[in-house]
Amino acid sequence: MVRCRRFFCCCCPNRCSRSKDYEQAPGEEPLTKAAEEEESPTTEQQPQQQSEDMPANVHQKARTEVYQGAPDDKKRYQIKDSEVAWNIELPSYAPVLYTQEKILTDKPVWADPDVADDGFENIKFNEMDGNVNRVSYNGKYDLEELEGKKVPRNPMGRTGMRGRGLLGKWGPNHAADPIVTRFKRDKDGNIEKQGDKPILEFVAIQRRDTKEWAIPGGMVDGGEHVSATLKREFGEEALNSIEEEQKEETKNLITEFFKAGDKIYEGYVDDPRNTDNAWMETAAYNFHDDDGKKAGKIPLNAGDDAQAVRWMAIDSGIQLYASHKDFIRKVCEKLNAHF
Ligand code: BGC
Repeated sequence: MVRCRRFFCCCCPNRCSRSKDYEQAPGEEPLTKAAEEEESPTTEQQPQQQSEDMPANVHQKARTEVYQGAPDDKKRYQIKDSEVAWNIELPSYAPVLYTQEKILTDKPVWADPDVADDGFENIKFNEMDGNVNRVSYNGKYDLEELEGKKVPRNPMGRTGMRGRGLLGKWGPNHAADPIVTRFKRDKDGNIEKQGDKPILEFVAIQRRDTKEWAIPGGMVDGGEHVSATLKREFGEEALNSIEEEQKEETKNLITEFFKAGDKIYEGYVDDPRNTDNAWMETAAYNFHDDDGKKAGKIPLNAGDDAQAVRWMAIDSGIQLYASHKDFIRKVCEKLNAHF
């Protein structure tokens, strides 16, 4: 089946849509056991809670004054750290209402209807809604009123903006992040160290939208397995336009390599696009190439939504998109590598 590289591209805020009848491509394999067990969203929900893994600095990027990527410098209503939690009374709170014009007027298939549109009432929050996963990794989310309708409320607190901003779905918008790593080696093939710990490198892309370096992740398509998203996004973002003759060999290598991934994080992400009613969640998996002879050998080539791709050495000084640095730190802990 022909798989359009532009469909549901990860980083593009104006994502175009994959056809509704998208199916898992033949030969796509599930992830490791651990990954598989976690895959299917369940409708049996735990009460809303803050994930244990949640980085402490929640709503830093999702509270920046200028809302990144929106035309005419949309600004968020500014609140203090101490005012983020919903259980703090804030009668003066006046979040800015914003949903991208393109979403409201073009009504792309990847986006939900707006509150006043036909079909809004049929959305089933907190459950699998047809092939759209509206279940949050962080448990059952509350609903709040917006223009007389009930919309999801951000489980991590206030962001200073209502509506969906640049995001298509009300509530959770699900992504997946493949963290592909290898050890940094010198020209003789010896692993480079900092102190007594090996230095890791990961495949990083530079996003076109914010220009920040990031993991080559992307949105989970309706009905798609996270395992398929991880592999697809890596292919689209980091391996674009590889030479034809290399393609088959590379495809097989990737298929093999992506069979064994370790779950690093699943849950809410402090993404700059988040609003009080729409937010990003991700499943991040590490695929480590211990001897550097598998993924370590694959030629990298930036895809549509990336302006550059490279192996980036990991150190606590790196600055990355959204919560990506937290995921990378966890990978280093897992592999007992330098951070
Ligand atoms: C990106 C992922 C990221 C997620 C949440 C997606 O658009 O492609 O890499 O983790 O947003 O920030």
